[in-house]
Amino acid sequence: MTTVLGIETSCDETAVAVVDDGVTVRSNVVASQIELHRKYGGVVPEIASRAHIENLDTIVQDALDQAECAPSDVDVIAVTNRPGLVPALLIGVTAAKTLSWAWQKPLVGVDHIHAHAYSPAIGLAQPPWPAVALIVSGGHTSLFRVNGPADVQLLGATLDDAAGEAFDKVATILGLPYPGGPEIEKAAKHGDAKTVDFPRTMLKRGSLDFSFSGIKTAVRYHIHGHGKISGGLEKRSPADIANVAASFQQAVVDVLVKKAMLAVAQTGLSNVILGGGVAANGALRSAMEEVCRTRDINFVAAPWAYCTDNAAMIAALGFHMWQRGDIAGLDLDALANSSTRVA
Ligand code: KG4
Ligand code: ZN
Repeated sequence: MTTVLGIETSCDETAVAVVDDGVTVRSNVVASQIELHRKYGGVVPEIASRAHIENLDTIVQDALDQAECAPSDVDVIAVTNRPGLVPALLIGVTAAKTLSWAWQKPLVGVDHIHAHAYSPAIGLAQPPWPAVALIVSGGHTSLFRVNGPADVQLLGATLDDAAGEAFDKVATILGLPYPGGPEIEKAAKHGDAKTVDFPRTMLKRGSLDFSFSGIKTAVRYHIHGHGKISGGLEKRSPADIANVAASFQQAVVDVLVKKAMLAVAQTGLSNVILGGGVAANGALRSAMEEVCRTRDINFVAAPWAYCTDNAAMIAALGFHMWQRGDIAGLDLDALANSSTRVA
């Protein structure tokens, strides 16, 4: 048995997990910094990195304790080293290097996006590969062809805002708290998605790229009126807000589902996987499930706990990378962008 300690600090979650053989999650500890960033309406890199420094020692110990695992039982240290906020990534990378040196264990550098693409397969004896992967998070909205662990080709990506970013920005426009994704989903449950026909930006024919900045602007105009950037919200009842939230959510879901099906048509693959923070959205999960069912496509969504940022996905993918000899040195760098190849 191979036990991997995974560390994730690419954004505003300090996360550590212990996973055996890339399959059995023994602990998965996530310390969210949401409260620290809320008053700024988004993640402040310096605050994130300071909080990672303050929390990481305790979170490593918690993850080991919950797994009933001693440092000597750990075989491999895996850490997110890209993509993300470099000041935040550096904290996890430095901690992982220190543990690797002190405990004399091999170090693996994991691409956060490849880990999101791996997350639907955690715990599965038969991973659904090759697959079209729709990865929707606060920083990324991409379609990939996934051939296996960390074997990922980019098919299309957002040209502007990520889907999660659009959820967060629209929530701010609607006066809902940060982070906006779960708040919009909550509000949308009480609304009618047919109230406003927001644009579904598909870009040019056959394109697997996305654009969500237009819909965000459309929501702003709908609430505040053309030419204004504020005011208008006070005239809205909670029922109005719920209707706008539901209409916005439906428009985003429609685009994501259509593009995922276009990727299936273009690649001829019959597996579709879904991951990333926005994959926690119930409306998106149900719509993907339904369209795949009617087309006889095998659909696997990441379990809810592995949608938003976590270290279980880092440790699980780290196991496979270690197995094929993808070991990093103590010169491992923190990098802002992903290593994904374009198909
Ligand atoms: O994967 P993640 O935790 O971090 C990044 O790698 O970016 O994704 C965070 C994003 C945020 O934008 C958040 O608003 C969104 O995922 N999110 C949701 C939901 N839960 C989280 N969006 C829509 N519906 C949700 N239930
Ligand atoms: Zn993420």
